[in-house]
Formats: sequence, C-alpha cells, structure tokens
Amino acid sequence: MSVKSMQARVNPVYLTAKTAVCLMERAKIPGAEEIACALALDDKALLQNMKDEETILGNALVVEAKYRTMCRLIEASGIMTSVDLPCGYTPKAIYMTEHGRKFVGLDLPIVIQEIEPIIRQLAGQAENVTFYGVDATNYSSLKAALYDVSGPLCISTEGMMMYFSDDEADTVIANIQCLLSEYGGCWITPDPEYALQFCGTFQAVFGEESLAKLMATRDTAQGQED
Ligand SMILES: C[S@@+](CC[C@H](N)C(=O)[O-])C[C@H]1O[C@@H](n2cnc3c(N)ncnc32)[C@H](O)[C@@H]1O
Repeated sequence: MSVKSMQARVNPVYLTAKTAVCLMERAKIPGAEEIACALALDDKALLQNMKDEETILGNALVVEAKYRTMCRLIEASGIMTSVDLPCGYTPKAIYMTEHGRKFVGLDLPIVIQEIEPIIRQLAGQAENVTFYGVDATNYSSLKAALYDVSGPLCISTEGMMMYFSDDEADTVIANIQCLLSEYGGCWITPDPEYALQFCGTFQAVFGEESLAKLMATRDTAQGQED
C-alpha cells in the first residue's frame, strides 16, 4: 500500500475537504476551479452519493454562503493575519492575500503537502502565505506552526469541530484559547450551527423534499468522517 493511500485510510476526513472544493467549483468561487483542476479531482466520485443535481446545488449553496460569510467576517475583524484551521483546499489564501492580509494555512500534513505547492503557484502574493501540517488537538504542533508569526490572529475554523469527540473538541477549544491569550485576536467558527444552516437552506430551496435531500447529503458525509 502506498504512503498516500495509508494516509487516506488513517485520515478519511480529509476527503471532506476535497468534496468542499468540488462544491466551491460548482458555486463558481474564484480560484476553486484552478485548485480542483490542479488536484485532478474526480467530482463524479467525490459527489457520487449526492443523488441528483438538486442535492449538489443545495450543498453548493451551503458551502458558498459559509465561505463568503467567513471571508467577510475575517475582513470585518480588522486583523491582518488570517489563520485558517483547517485550511483544506479552499482558495481562501488567494482571496486573503489579494485583499492585503497575511494567510497561515494549518491542516493535517496530508492536506498541506498537496495544497501548498498549488497555492504557491496561484497566489500572486505568495510571500504572504505560509502553510504548516498540524494536529489541532496537539498544542505543540500549533505553537510550532506559529513560531515566527506575530499577533493578533484571526483564527477561522470551518468544517472541523463536528468531526471531533467531545473530549477532542474541548482540547481544540483550549488550544485556541491558549493561542489567543498569547497572540491576541479572535476565533470565528460557524461549526456549532452547521446543522441549522443545512436545514434552513434545504428547507428554503426544496420545501417538502428537503428531508430526502438532506439524507443523501448525510450519507456522503458519513462515509468520509469515520
Ligand atoms: C470539511 S473539511 C473543511 C476544510 C476547509 N475549512 C473547508 O471549508 O473546505 C475538514 C478538514 O479538517 C481537517 N482536519 C481533520 N482533523 C484535523 C486535525 N486533528 N487537525 C487539523 N485538521 C484536521 C481535514 O484534513 C480537512 O481538511
């Protein structure tokens, strides 16, 4: 078995980040198409459990609303260093540097190895972008990643907390609290309300069919979160 397929078996949740960038491509978020192309993503395979185009549309709407809202909130914080934990494969690094911010992308090493060279090619201001492989539950890895970064930090967490057990989530929250007490800044996360966002969006778009389409979405996510 190759190192890559072993890493994929140990960290199946990283595939959720690939699904997210496929959906961003569908939503025409700038940079997503180029990233999906550089990763040679097979969107048919990644979106295969979403049974029809409408279910894909509902998911793309959720992802787009979250991505664009997070970018606005990070900008509204007024903080010039954006720390994305986890950064996944999104084009946020490109957006943030184009809008005058420093960007620090943190994720599992398997993701960073893939996304860093792609963003370095695509981001005009590549010197304002850094990436580190971390484990959000391990404070030393976070501290090591930020060794030459100065505060304050705007830490964003999108699409991660729901995959942790309660103990792991407590550890991640304590780690972020420690970082903020050292560097200053703020933490922005939509994760506690992700189910609400899915239900509200699907209900608004699909009405009575929303439950069936939500079930198809849940099946896709469950295969990737074990
Ligand atoms: C649903 S994706 C979200 C990625 C990105 N924020 C987005 O919106 O597309 C979940 C991400 O969490 C990352 N992840 C899972 N466990 C992690 C951990 N312990 N430490 C750091 N990142 C982790 C995965 O590698 C994956 O990139």
